[in-house]
Amino acid sequence: MKKILIVNASKRRTGNSYTLEKRFAQQLEGKAEVTTFHIGEKDVRACLACDACKRQHTPNCIQKDDFTALIPEIDSCDAMLILAPVHWDQFPAQLKAFLDRTYSFMDFTQPDFSMAGRKDKKLAGYFFAGFGPVDVYTNMVETNLKSFATAGFVDYKAHVAGDANVPGSIMEKPEDLAVADGFAEWLLA
Ligand SMILES: Cc1cc2nc3c(=O)[nH]c(=O)nc-3n(C[C@H](O)[C@H](O)[C@H](O)COP(=O)(O)O)c2cc1C
Repeated sequence: MKKILIVNASKRRTGNSYTLEKRFAQQLEGKAEVTTFHIGEKDVRACLACDACKRQHTPNCIQKDDFTALIPEIDSCDAMLILAPVHWDQFPAQLKAFLDRTYSFMDFTQPDFSMAGRKDKKLAGYFFAGFGPVDVYTNMVETNLKSFATAGFVDYKAHVAGDANVPGSIMEKPEDLAVADGFAEWLLA
């Protein structure tokens, strides 16, 4: 059974990231071992840029907070699904902190700069925007998702659902839901 890590970076518990998280959980039930991390409720601090992680060859971070327990989950999963809003044209702050902390997987002595135990993992990023241009946001999301390759996520897919300010409104958007269905199938394959 595939091991899938869901990272939800929204603070709106009735919002669209949470709505879609529930739908994904139903679709994956019995087909994958799912671990869910509500990053908006956790203490994931900014990277210290101390480079302590660069004096070793297994992923580890000297800063002990809620990211600590996630390192082995990130390293051992088959796939990760990120659900998040766009905030000021960018990743929301907690998700950016999470991305920055995956610097602990970077190893300059390796040809691919990665000390991840597995380098064959899939990453799906499904984002929500209220009013902005989804094509610009999709480029932004793809640029950020590429950086997760250091943690072994070499294959990624991105989608931004626009006009998503109203909590739960994603359920009224068949085209965006079809993309989510495709993501679920791809993550399980
Ligand atoms: C601090 C903040 C900044 C935001 N910035 C943008 C933005 O730059 N562009 C946009 O289209 N929507 C923006 N929004 C709206 C959210 O992206 C939108 O409401 C999204 O659907 C929320 O997803 P959620 O329901 O999963 O939390 C912003 C919302 C907040 C709270």
